[in-house]
Amino acid sequence: MRPLVPWILAAFSAPAWAAMPAAEQNALVKQYCAVCHTDAAKNGGLSLQHYDAGSRDPGLAAMILSKLNNGAMGAAGNGVPAKTAQVAWLESTKEQAAGAEEWFVSRQSETVSAGIVRAVPPRKPDSADAPLYRLLLVCNPGTRVGEMQLTWSPQPQTGRTLTASIDGNPALSYTIEGKESMGNGTSLESGHASVILNSDKSKQLGLPKQSLTVRDLFPGETVEFPFDGLGKDARAELSKCF
Ligand code: HEC
Repeated sequence: MRPLVPWILAAFSAPAWAAMPAAEQNALVKQYCAVCHTDAAKNGGLSLQHYDAGSRDPGLAAMILSKLNNGAMGAAGNGVPAKTAQVAWLESTKEQAAGAEEWFVSRQSETVSAGIVRAVPPRKPDSADAPLYRLLLVCNPGTRVGEMQLTWSPQPQTGRTLTASIDGNPALSYTIEGKESMGNGTSLESGHASVILNSDKSKQLGLPKQSLTVRDLFPGETVEFPFDGLGKDARAELSKCF
C-alpha cells in the first residue's frame, strides 16, 4: 500500500519554500543587505530593515534574486555566506519570485501596495541575466498620499533621462543624476536604481488604464507595464492617490 498519510502530511507541512526557512533568510538579509538597505539610507530606494521572507512579495523577491545573482551577497564587505547557504538562499528566493510578472497587491494597516516586474533582453549579448524593472504603487486611500516608484536591477544608472507615459499619452521626463553613498558608511558611491515617478506636482502621470511605458533609462530600452490585469478593488483604492 502507498504510504498515503505521510505523503499528505509532508505536502501540508512543507513550507512553500523549503530550501531555506524564512528565519534563516531574514538573518542573511540582516547581515549582508540591511546594513545599507536601512529605513534611513534606503539605498536603491529600498529598505530591507523589516524584511520578512515569510511574507509573500514575488516582485521584491525577483529584485533580490537579481541582485543576489550579481554580487550583492558580498556588497557589505563582510565576506559571503557558506556555499550551501548561498545555494539554498538563491533557491528559496527563486521560488518566492514566482509570479512576479503579475500584479501583486498587499495591504498594510493604512496603505495598499501594488507591484509588478518586467524583464527586458540582456544588455550584453553574452550575459544570461535578464535585467529587471519593478513598478510599485503605494497608496494611503485615507490621506490620498501615494508614491509611484520605478526600480531596476542589476545595473545602476546615472546621467540619463528616461521618459514615462501612460496609455500612449505624451511622455514626462525624469533625469537620473548624481551618485548615492553606501548606507553602511563606506566611501564607495554608485549610480541609482530607483526613481519616484510622481515626485512633484509637475510630474503626475495618473493611474494608467492600459499601460505605463518607460523608455531610454538604458539606451534604446523600452519596458511596458500592463495595467489591464490590475484588480478592480486595487484600482479603486489606488485611484484615490493617483
Ligand atoms: C554597501 C551597501 C549595500 C549592500 C550591503 C547591499 N546593497 Fe543593494 N543596493 C545598494 C545601492 C547603493 C543600490 C543602488 C545602486 C545599485 O543598484 O547598485 C542598491 C540596489 C539594490 C537593489 C535594486 C533596487 C531596488 O530597489 O530593487 C536591490 C534589489 C538590492 N540592492 C538588493 C540587495 C540585497 C538583496 C543585498 C544583500 C545580499 C544588498 N542589496 C546589499 C547598496 C547596497
